[in-house]
Amino acid sequence: MRVTKAVFPVAGLGTRFLPATKANPKEMMPIVDKPLIQYAVEEAVKAGITELIFVTNSSKRAIEDHFDSNYELESSLLERGKHELLEMVRGILPEGVSCAYIRQKSPQGLGHAVLCAKQLILNEPFAVLLADDLIDGGDSSCMQQMVSVFQQSKSSVIAVQQIATSETKKYGVVDVGNQKEKVTKILGIVEKPQPDKAPSNLGVVGRYILTPKIFSLLEQTTHGSGGEIQLTDAIAKLLQFESVHALQFEGKRYDCGTKLGYLEATIAYALKHPELADDFRLCLQGFV
Ligand code: G1P
Repeated sequence: MRVTKAVFPVAGLGTRFLPATKANPKEMMPIVDKPLIQYAVEEAVKAGITELIFVTNSSKRAIEDHFDSNYELESSLLERGKHELLEMVRGILPEGVSCAYIRQKSPQGLGHAVLCAKQLILNEPFAVLLADDLIDGGDSSCMQQMVSVFQQSKSSVIAVQQIATSETKKYGVVDVGNQKEKVTKILGIVEKPQPDKAPSNLGVVGRYILTPKIFSLLEQTTHGSGGEIQLTDAIAKLLQFESVHALQFEGKRYDCGTKLGYLEATIAYALKHPELADDFRLCLQGFV
């Protein structure tokens, strides 16, 4: 059982970043010089995924264009002898990797978005990556670490991290036997609980490997937290049939769904950018 398909739910409206996201998808916002969605795609590809399924809406065409070839740009770079840039542009979608796009017709939440991909996944385990969560995993990306856990456990795997008690209402929160173990079976999961109702301090970040059983459970899932069809609620049901593991991954996660997290990620990635790091460090010194 290999994980070769990944779903990228990208139909969200990005209201937190208006007006920047009025005409541009939030997933196309750059961290330094690369759009958020490209980081998520690179993470998936590094983990061996070759089929990318984007769940989009009508205002997300820029994402399709980004992963398609751009004849005008490429021929102009070629004419001007800009071979490095040409190679970079052509390499956005690596050889052997394909994209499929499917529309989410109404904004009914993450669970609904994942269900939209059912016909393209069929009966295989698959990954889900939320581009808002940018994860710098270092040598081994978060998804690579998850694939290793999946290969051993043959069960669904969810990436989690320690969160502050006051933050539980922003996350799916898992119930586990031992919160100190890096990989552990989850006993329960709940979407955005109040701090006094949270089963632990382990919050779900936007990376999942799911078995296809999730689709029939999503079909039965009614609108939950925030009036949306929640993936978390279907995972809670999955626990009645299969084990699900939580992985406290190695790496740093930036919540690029918030302005503060987005700025933090921009600074962190600029400080390790090969061409920018030194000058940017000097620049920053002028502010602090
Ligand atoms: C979604 C999930 C939530 C998870 C979070 C991670 O929420 O529903 O369980 O913890 O992503 O980023 P959202 O942030 O889309 O509200």
